[in-house]
Amino acid sequence: MGDTPSRPSSSGSSSHHDAKPVALITGGGTGIGRAIGRALAEDGYHLCIASRSADHLAEGAADLRGRRARVLEVPTDVRHPDQVDRLFEAVRKEYGRLDVLVNNAAGNFFAPAEQISANGWRAVTQIVLDGTFFCSKGAFPLLQRSPQPAIVNIIASYAWMAGPGTSHSAAAKAGVLALTRSLAVEWARYGIRVNAVAPGPVRTEGTDRQLWVSEAVVSAVTRGVPLGRFGTVEEIAEAVRFLASPRASYITGQVLAVDGGQWLGQGVMPLLETFAPGSAKRGD
Ligand SMILES: NC(=O)c1ccc[n+]([C@@H]2O[C@H](COP(=O)([O-])OP(=O)(O)OC[C@H]3O[C@@H](n4cnc5c(N)ncnc54)[C@H](OP(=O)(O)O)[C@@H]3O)[C@@H](O)[C@H]2O)c1
Repeated sequence: MGDTPSRPSSSGSSSHHDAKPVALITGGGTGIGRAIGRALAEDGYHLCIASRSADHLAEGAADLRGRRARVLEVPTDVRHPDQVDRLFEAVRKEYGRLDVLVNNAAGNFFAPAEQISANGWRAVTQIVLDGTFFCSKGAFPLLQRSPQPAIVNIIASYAWMAGPGTSHSAAAKAGVLALTRSLAVEWARYGIRVNAVAPGPVRTEGTDRQLWVSEAVVSAVTRGVPLGRFGTVEEIAEAVRFLASPRASYITGQVLAVDGGQWLGQGVMPLLETFAPGSAKRGD
């Protein structure tokens, strides 16, 4: 190919649709997904958000429309391939194109591995791993026709570290990381770039309920982050916005950790405290 990709033009979209690029975000009604929608809307994308709850979608869509985004909401459980097929059919009908897919939907809860039920294991791994594959495959025919196609998968550093207490999610995210790298190589011939973002700890309504369940947990996690604080949804969205954009046109198969140094610091943060107790000026 050798051409420098430019902003999408009307090529690839049918005549009754306008020329704006289109991004689909799973789990785009809440938390990090919604912030990704805001960032991509600012960059001129039309949006589609998909998740199970019509309430989450309506709330997210109202927020995004308040920022003048055009938003299609499609209630979808990404665990079910037939629902995922209907999702992409809805995108094709509404917009006639798809340029960016963000696989952000996830389920997670803290539990010692020996207490995870078969249903709990399946729920998490099916949303995260099966859902990411079904959506990537469903997006493929539309992405193939985009002038600047990109997939960004939201993972977590325990995809390559350890996820004690969240072994189901860690196993699933590791699978998504392997899928990211595999699709990056396999679909490079179509110009489809596939990358991942690994957020550090970020407080959202969902994670406050499922993960950051007490002040003790919050303060233990904070102590393990070299930058000394939780991240914000906007900080995660910035990385997704970059990887999705033509500014990242030569980047594929990579994972960008946006985690305040958390994974690099794992295991050495207590040591740091012993030779510079309280002296490090961190966080806010
Ligand atoms: N927050 C953190 O500290 C953190 C850290 C590392 C990684 N992450 C990752 O960041 C991403 C976003 O998480 P978040 O923190 O923003 O939490 P969140 O608000 O709970 O987001 C999860 C989203 O996934 C959707 N979802 C759940 N099950 C689904 C299903 N079966 N089908 C379709 N959608 C489904 C939910 O919507 P419905 O309920 O409407 O289905 C929700 O919008 C996730 O991939 C998470 O693993 C977060």
